[in-house]
Amino acid sequence: TDFFSFHNGVFCCEGVSLQELAEEHGTPLFVISRNKLLTQYRAFEEAFKDLGHLTCYSVKANFNIHVIRALAEEGCGFDVNSGGELYRALQAGADPARIIMAGVGKTAAEIEYALSTGILMLKAESLSELRMISDIAVQLGLEARVAIRVNPNVTAETHPYITTGDSKEKFGIDEVAIDEAFDLVRSLPNIRLVGLDMHIGSQIFDTGFYQAAADKLLAVLDNARQAGFEIEYFDIGGGFPVTYEPAKPATPITKFAEKLIPMLEKTGTTVIFEPGRFIAANSAVLVTRVLYRKRNHIGKEFVVVDAAMTELIRPALYQSYHGIIAVKPCGSTFKADIVGPVCESGDFLARAREIDCVGEGELLAVLSAGAYGAVMSNNYNGRLRPAEVLVDQGNVTLIRKRDTYEQLVQNEL
Ligand code: LLP
Repeated sequence: TDFFSFHNGVFCCEGVSLQELAEEHGTPLFVISRNKLLTQYRAFEEAFKDLGHLTCYSVKANFNIHVIRALAEEGCGFDVNSGGELYRALQAGADPARIIMAGVGKTAAEIEYALSTGILMLKAESLSELRMISDIAVQLGLEARVAIRVNPNVTAETHPYITTGDSKEKFGIDEVAIDEAFDLVRSLPNIRLVGLDMHIGSQIFDTGFYQAAADKLLAVLDNARQAGFEIEYFDIGGGFPVTYEPAKPATPITKFAEKLIPMLEKTGTTVIFEPGRFIAANSAVLVTRVLYRKRNHIGKEFVVVDAAMTELIRPALYQSYHGIIAVKPCGSTFKADIVGPVCESGDFLARAREIDCVGEGELLAVLSAGAYGAVMSNNYNGRLRPAEVLVDQGNVTLIRKRDTYEQLVQNEL
């Protein structure tokens, strides 16, 4: 089913007109389809149903507590990358026994918080972090469950800012230094190695990169077992792709399952997946109003809208493509740059885009804005972070109020 579609010429989310939502809640506005979120989660579960696994949605993609709660109710686990994300997950009612924590730079306070809430495991990314976790576990008088994040040195093909499993990047412990990590864990008190972990990047189309990295992690699993560790969790991370442009369709999740299940079913572990984008990206659109149109002397058309890089930074940061359509298309199109009000030349949502012919005051919907959209919003230029609504078959819930001017200054003493 299509959760975003036209009804009587107006673009709708689960049957609710985006025009009406914009009038009621203002713009820019993130509109999330609850049932699209759940459909994506269920599709993931269906693909991997023959494998003993735990899916830990990577909350960084969209950490609104209502989004986390919707998935928690389905039995989903969660991957968090900071104390703040852990707090959000717990506030949303997530079960600590299904939360795992990543992070290349966890502070002592974050480690203490995670250990005291009893999460499933912390994924350690350096030898020093292993020592820190052990120290804190001793102080708290408990045993810390850890996984080692392995950097498998596999360069996945995607945007360079979102490859993570390469030795040039800061993430994980070198595949070649793992024996040292094993020796260290053995020597440290109050720490139990229960998992191995990797994450090679994001928006990865080629299943081969996962196979290559999983192969390396399987070798590490053998070593760990020979070294006497009882490894219960084998975490292959997230990064599963979605379609942003119809011309570049994502590899179906079933293809990943087809390649990975045969490799992973014999591990005798619970395999962990950390999809973020796959679940969240196509579950939301960003609705924005056209403020002005102008055409300059070289014939270039600009559509100035009220959403900016402060609400959706992906085009500016990763040159990423987001479809943009009129909420009420008129039939004809023209070519323009769609730009925001922020004082940066990099503040654009699309460049030289053939777009529905929209006039001033009319609405556009920026598609596939559900992952790394609202969560990366910020107050640069004194902008107010946008409102978010969740739509569930005609029922609309405001799940985040728009920032206010008072909030902009409230922490400035
Ligand atoms: N696990 C770990 C340890 C991660 O670092 C990430 C994403 C994920 C899972 C989820 O990856 P996903 O399934 O969503 O691809 N802001 C960028 C993406 C940054 C991803 C960071 N790590 C973007 O908008 O493309």
